[in-house]
Amino acid sequence: MQTGLDWNGESAGPLLAIETSCDETAVAILSPSGAILAEQVLSQFGEHAPFGGVVPEIAARAHLVHLPGMVQAMMEEAGLAAQGLGAVAATSGPGLIGGLLVGAGFGKGIALAAGKPFVAVNHLEGHALTARLPGLVPGGAAFPYLLLLLSGGHCQCVAVEGVGRYRRLGGTIDDAVGEAFDKVAKLLGLPIPGGPALERLAAQGDARRFPLPRPLLGRPGCDFSFSGLKTAVAQLVAALPPGAIETRTAADIAAGFQAAVVDVLADRAAHALGAMPEASLMVVAGGVAANGAIRAALAAVAEARGLVLAAPPLRYCGDNAVMIGWAALERLRAGLATSGLDRRPQPRWPLAALAEPA
Ligand code: KG4
Ligand code: ZN
Repeated sequence: MQTGLDWNGESAGPLLAIETSCDETAVAILSPSGAILAEQVLSQFGEHAPFGGVVPEIAARAHLVHLPGMVQAMMEEAGLAAQGLGAVAATSGPGLIGGLLVGAGFGKGIALAAGKPFVAVNHLEGHALTARLPGLVPGGAAFPYLLLLLSGGHCQCVAVEGVGRYRRLGGTIDDAVGEAFDKVAKLLGLPIPGGPALERLAAQGDARRFPLPRPLLGRPGCDFSFSGLKTAVAQLVAALPPGAIETRTAADIAAGFQAAVVDVLADRAAHALGAMPEASLMVVAGGVAANGAIRAALAAVAEARGLVLAAPPLRYCGDNAVMIGWAALERLRAGLATSGLDRRPQPRWPLAALAEPA
């Protein structure tokens, strides 16, 4: 069922977007042209910290506790009642099924009660299209572009050819890059979220003290592998004297690990650009895109090809609902969004599947 509204002007009314696929509860309200009317991201770090990682059951329950109040608060901030909405969108995969059921179920409930269309959004498409949100990236992001999606759950090079048109050029054959950051941070005794803590520690370290492997560096294609690197760090840590790791040593290991990741990502990105000569831009997205050393290295790779690297501001690199709302709007404007009331949340939902008819 098409939504029956005109999404290319402002007449359709604002869109409410919900993101609950992992450990961030996020709500946003966007105007049809993409202006952000209200937004909030609530991280559940405190709730998961005692367990050293995200516990799916705790995440689902926390979404259930926080989401209704957040939606109400954002609607009040935007001065809206449900009847004033043009549509409701929620992440419907990929992600942790408990959280997806909470967010998509809640979104569908509002859509159904208010008689508005519901758009089931793919979380990866949210990351893929964020750079196109008006005003986010200088000059905007025109198709086709190379997307490097670097997050805790995903690590892939994607040719973004249009809304709903994605070609996977390569991806990780084991761990995602953010997962490797998180696991190494844990080995070094850092608090969660591990990635940012590891970046801060690496800034004080000497990357040359512990040379670490650079998996797949120089190999054809643009696949990634991080589990060998993580194991190398684990072996290094196991060989240290027992007890807490000395701060200097921890910083040097962090720096060595980050340098290896940077080299691998730069190499893979260069290969991906080689496989996509039509790319007019390189875009980096996902939580790991917040890393300064990684951004700098990828910017250099893009520049060497006469391209620029577009990186959304830090708050839109990690999980948020603005990207979900924007992906829904892109679909609505392209006439691709159908009412997703009958679509079940899917823990696995590859980007490439979006090209298939719904
Ligand atoms: O996109 P995201 O918020 O969630 C998904 O995985 O979908 O990404 C979170 C990941 C975590 O693994 C986190 O440790 C990593 O991004 N991350 C970083 C940095 N900030 C977040 N990794 C390295 N350096 C950072 N500054
Ligand atoms: Zn994400």
